[in-house]
Amino acid sequence: MTQLYLNDVTYQCEAGETVLDALTRQGVAVPFSCRSGVCQSCMMQSADANVPSAAQHGLKSTLQALNYFLACSCQPEQDMTITLADSSERMLPATVTAIRQLNDEILCVGLDCPSLKDYRAGQFINLYRDETFSRSYSLASVPADSYLRLHVRRLPDGRMSNWIHDELKLGDSLHISPPLGSCFYLPGDPEQPLLLIGTGSGLAPLMGILRDALSQQHGGAIHLYHGSRDVAGLYLVDELRELASQHPNFHYAPCISSGETVPGYHAGRAVDVALEAHPDLTGWRVYLCGNPNMVKAARKKTYMAKAKINDIYADAFVASSQ
Ligand SMILES: Cc1cc2nc3c(=O)[nH]c(=O)nc-3n(C[C@H](O)[C@H](O)[C@H](O)COP(=O)(O)OP(=O)(O)OC[C@H]3O[C@@H](n4cnc5c(N)ncnc54)[C@H](O)[C@@H]3O)c2cc1C
Ligand code: FES
Repeated sequence: MTQLYLNDVTYQCEAGETVLDALTRQGVAVPFSCRSGVCQSCMMQSADANVPSAAQHGLKSTLQALNYFLACSCQPEQDMTITLADSSERMLPATVTAIRQLNDEILCVGLDCPSLKDYRAGQFINLYRDETFSRSYSLASVPADSYLRLHVRRLPDGRMSNWIHDELKLGDSLHISPPLGSCFYLPGDPEQPLLLIGTGSGLAPLMGILRDALSQQHGGAIHLYHGSRDVAGLYLVDELRELASQHPNFHYAPCISSGETVPGYHAGRAVDVALEAHPDLTGWRVYLCGNPNMVKAARKKTYMAKAKINDIYADAFVASSQ
């Protein structure tokens, strides 16, 4: 057992327990969402240098050097003196400036966040409902847009997504985190073919990546496969078809996996349709976003199709656990 010293109070951390589990078990309100080291909402700082390296995975090197760590990934090896990350740094004020229904279950939310100047399309932010309750949403906008765009899918009984769909109104104020994640367009190789595969609201980061690549004059082929069970689950179909008609190097393939055959749509799972058309991904860059099971399977399949591991970028929309 190790001791955690927080705000002059000592908390016990059992062997094998994470800092997050130990603190929440003992009634401390710590922000968290994914519990799997992705969203960074549980970030804390250690006053000692006793941070296990696994607890800093994915953090910027500047944060690592300052002994920041993720409480959900930290199983202390020694006693630790810890503080919560400063809320003024992790929570930026934002205003709801647009709301648009994209299909029956996906809402586009526009946010104005004057202090968020610099982000890469495809990164994600954490949206806070209060100080400790947040969820991650990917940025579908590009920095040149006048506001940030999120695509939020309503989940049955989902606490955040139903609140956003049912209660959030134009003009409401809320807080978001600075941008996070490394699933974004890199302009270094403009002729490299790009393969974008997403399901459901996984289109959000892909939309940002696609628009960023086109605006940076990416010359290589860009293939987007967007999948859902049926036609009703897809969205922005007309906009994407229009974009494909304007850019000869952009190819859009809406896919439905229910087994139904619908003219203008591909039948099958997005990853399978993509790999049937492009069985050899040597030299390609791949982006995979959305359902975690799809992302895991697609990562394996695209790697087997010879995409290099370093050329596969993925954002799995990991659900939070209580
Ligand atoms: C990096 C990252 C980026 C993300 N980007 C987006 C995005 O752009 N758009 C978006 O809509 N979401 C995105 N998510 C998911 C989002 O953060 C939330 O997990 C999601 O909105 C659900 O939150 P909630 O509070 O509504 O549901 P919760 O109250 O947390 O969960 C409700 C219940 O739904 C279950 N559940 C989880 N997934 C499903 C599913 N697919 N179908 C049915 N039930 C399910 C959960 O297990 C839980 O029991 C992202 C997640 C991550 C980690
Ligand atoms: S990174 Fe710890 S809760 Fe998401």
